[in-house]
Amino acid sequence: METDLLAWREEFPILARSTYLISNSLGAMPRGVYDSLKSYADGWATEGVRSWETEGWWDLPLRLGDEIAPLLGARPGTVSTHLNVSLASAIIASCLDFDGPRNKIVCSELNFPSIIYLYRQQERRGAKLQLVPSHDGITIPLTDMLDAIDEHTALVPISHVIFKSAFVQDVQAIVEKAHEVGAYVALDVYQSTGVMPVEVDAWDVDFAVGGTLKWLCGGPGVSYLYVKPELADQLEPSITGWMSHVSPFSFDASGLERRTDAWRFLNGTPGIPALFAARPGVEIINRVGVGAIRAKSLRQTDRLIAAASQHGWSVRTPRKHEWRGGTVTLDVPDAQKVTGELLERDIFVDFRPGAGIRLSPHFYTTDEEIDHAVDTIASLVG
Ligand SMILES: Cc1ncc(COP(=O)(O)O)c(C=O)c1O
Repeated sequence: METDLLAWREEFPILARSTYLISNSLGAMPRGVYDSLKSYADGWATEGVRSWETEGWWDLPLRLGDEIAPLLGARPGTVSTHLNVSLASAIIASCLDFDGPRNKIVCSELNFPSIIYLYRQQERRGAKLQLVPSHDGITIPLTDMLDAIDEHTALVPISHVIFKSAFVQDVQAIVEKAHEVGAYVALDVYQSTGVMPVEVDAWDVDFAVGGTLKWLCGGPGVSYLYVKPELADQLEPSITGWMSHVSPFSFDASGLERRTDAWRFLNGTPGIPALFAARPGVEIINRVGVGAIRAKSLRQTDRLIAAASQHGWSVRTPRKHEWRGGTVTLDVPDAQKVTGELLERDIFVDFRPGAGIRLSPHFYTTDEEIDHAVDTIASLVG
């Protein structure tokens, strides 16, 4: 029931003093973060270096991975955590060689730019990046994507949900084509995990990356990397470190004997405070349940789209439910200026060039907040 979802509002202090429609960028902070960070600080202050064991710091990168795994449709022990998605993607790239005939990386030009920057840099290692164009800045034609994937393709890094338009790509069709020609798929689920179902296992993706900052309400400093367990022990990431070693405390520099599970993809000492900060949000999303979140999200994004149509605003997000993530992008006149005015009124949204104003209701958003944002935009647009 949606009223049960709204009961969670009390857990998010910022909701009492703003209209928070920006969970596509930074999810609201759960009040539990105060306690979680305090317990981190208390552990450090009282247990000192013993905290690695007594406070569970050592295992935390994988324990948090296990807490995120159900939201990805992943099995336990398959998800490691890292600093950000760019780094998690660099770890994937470092598992692959691009000096043979299979050297193509195929992705859409609407992928998040950081990921495109990273994969373009792989051209220095022999890769050839092929960007599949969008004709409307909103969608990527599936046939164009499938046609680009051929027997020279090594990797297909795609966004499940496109960050500017919230267009949902057909992951299963892309995975099927990639596997048919022997390529891997790295799925960026940053804009989907926590707001709609993700099923990496059922979809048979090889890698998935995302972070806790947005729809998981977990704050900055934590990304996650899923690697299909059947694949993991064949991969040799060159971005690596002592935490991936089977016996890190042997400090044996003569060789790297790697673990065969998700620890294999770790490198050096993790950012422990960020992992503590991320846990309350991940726990809440697990408890609320992505099915209920998705149902409410579709209803509220429908409400936004209907209101925008009534006002005659251009909607740069697909209308079909199966093609739409959790955000609605509105291209109103002077959208960047309007965004600034909305922020001044504590209506949190953001603006992306070539797209418009992104509005993102989450499970804690009321209909009144949506209507308030729409009415305010209408008064600003005139
Ligand atoms: C789809 C997507 N991928 C990646 C990122 C960012 O990645 P990183 O963690 O490297 O900043 C974002 C947004 O910030 C995003 O929307």
